[in-house]
Amino acid sequence: MCGIVGYMGPKEAAPILIKGLHRLEYRGYDSAGIALINGNGKLSIYKTKGKVANLEKLLSDKDVSGCVGIAHTRWATHGEPNEANAHPHLSEHNNIALIHNGIIENYKALKEELVSKGYHFYSDTDTEVIVQLIQYIMDTHKISLTEAVPQALANVIGAYAIAIIDKDNPDVMIAARKGSPLIVGIGKDEFFIGSDATPIVEYTDKVVYLEEGQIALMERGKELQVTDLNKINISPVVKKLEISLEEIEKGGFADFMLKEIYEQPQTLRNSMSGRLHPDLGEVRLSGIIDNKEKFLNARRIIICACGTSWHAALIGKYMIEEIARIPVEVEYSSEFRYRNPVIYDDDIVIAISQSGETADTLAALKLARTKGAFLFGICNVVGSSIPRETDSGCYTHAGPEIGVASTKAFTAQVSTLALLALSLAKEKGTIDDATRLRLVAELQRIPDKIEKILKHDRNISMLAPIFTYARNFIYLGRGYNYPVALEGALKLKEISYIHAEGYPAAEMKHGPIALIDEELPVVVIATRKGKYDKIVSNIQEIKSRKGKIISIVTEGDVDVRKISDWSFEIPDTEECFVPLLSTIPLQLLAYHIAVVKGRNVDQPRNLAKSVTVE
Ligand code: F6R
Repeated sequence: MCGIVGYMGPKEAAPILIKGLHRLEYRGYDSAGIALINGNGKLSIYKTKGKVANLEKLLSDKDVSGCVGIAHTRWATHGEPNEANAHPHLSEHNNIALIHNGIIENYKALKEELVSKGYHFYSDTDTEVIVQLIQYIMDTHKISLTEAVPQALANVIGAYAIAIIDKDNPDVMIAARKGSPLIVGIGKDEFFIGSDATPIVEYTDKVVYLEEGQIALMERGKELQVTDLNKINISPVVKKLEISLEEIEKGGFADFMLKEIYEQPQTLRNSMSGRLHPDLGEVRLSGIIDNKEKFLNARRIIICACGTSWHAALIGKYMIEEIARIPVEVEYSSEFRYRNPVIYDDDIVIAISQSGETADTLAALKLARTKGAFLFGICNVVGSSIPRETDSGCYTHAGPEIGVASTKAFTAQVSTLALLALSLAKEKGTIDDATRLRLVAELQRIPDKIEKILKHDRNISMLAPIFTYARNFIYLGRGYNYPVALEGALKLKEISYIHAEGYPAAEMKHGPIALIDEELPVVVIATRKGKYDKIVSNIQEIKSRKGKIISIVTEGDVDVRKISDWSFEIPDTEECFVPLLSTIPLQLLAYHIAVVKGRNVDQPRNLAKSVTVE
């Protein structure tokens, strides 16, 4: 949440910062701001409510000169989205500017103290206390900014990623992190700061991922210096960025979400590459091979996740229990972390997260760590916090996902879980060789089958206008398609703002059936494998109450098509891999309905991509 970008070097900072904000806008987009130390040594701050485009408009007739600056795009936590609450925030003497991502938990107490000492506040944010505290420490101890920052941060409780510039030290930029991600990019005689790699990738592939409690001091003409909060020097580990510019641009698609839906055949190939060996009928996941004994002796697996990743976890549960016969519990991270769960030291806790930064999932892991469980991560963003917090894991390799609604990251999570289940099944000997060979060969064919489904996109887009009237949708599925129903409903609600609920189809009789009338669209995932006859009966029940049925069926289906108002076919596959296919038309349906309704699908209201606050 919140995008942070900073630049210091020989170039003009403003164009780099604005472009960076556009790239980061998916993290939050209710207000934006920029601070620059102009060529004449003046510190200029410009802020606006709304999107980065508004800020750009505001800057058109302003002095945006200067080779050092910071900029921010906000997802409001404390204080409504308005100009006053937008970042950067300024210190009492108007010389220090600071931007922040995270939440300062003790801000009220700090604010009261600072107010009593004569410091003035003009926003409702928690952020403003950090910059005022730094100023206060500088004033009272007569010390430099560099010295004051660690002292101030030692008094702050909560999560932060911050970037700071100082009018009186135009050749210095400071960044620090605790609980919220922050990256420093190193170019030729220049430094970049980013809350993720997207604003940096265009300029350099050399980055340092700041660790918890680290402060980065960037000084013109000097090497990057990193210290901890006790001012102990740390040698920064410079890593090579693994994403390309192409991956974070729209590449001719109208929206990132559509591009990412279309990328899925390739992202699945990437996520399985080097791991799936159809020639040998095997899966090789180094995270499992290296920790074979742990997995073989595990009492159970607990998967913690949020949102779409939680839906992938549910599919993973079905796969692992069916194929590898290990009991799996799926937990919402936010519930798990606060309810004193029973965790044994022979449990394996798996965290699934696209961003690798979700605050509740990180906290769930930290709790599991205290109980001695083995921690395994399934994440997309390389170098993010969860992979660094876990004992082992595997990346999903879906590439950067910019659309706020998760699509390609979800299918990559599911395919990674399929690999994990197959790999565990081999180690445990829970399926025979012929079954394993068949499943491995079929998993290899999934990307081609997704390509086939994508060819029907036009049919789905033509259907979308029919549903602009709808205020509610129900999604039903059984077995492996139940989590798909949940995911389909989530996609629709988050980008079209139409209320949608997913249910296990048989649960309908226990309440939701009361909602069905001639206006209610009901999406039923009724693929042939699984409890086909049962779901046909469920559809009949809806039909007889005049519900409008949109079904997802297996190629060649006759029975369900006959009783549906609209149907979309997907190729046949093994039952456990059906979610990888049945999800695709639901992503497209949500996308096209949202487009017809005129929504901003990449940046839906109130949402942000990376939920780094609880
Ligand atoms: C929905 C969506 C969210 C995320 C959730 C967890 O489309 O994207 O529900 O799945 O916020 O995020 P990660 O996977 O980054 O932990």
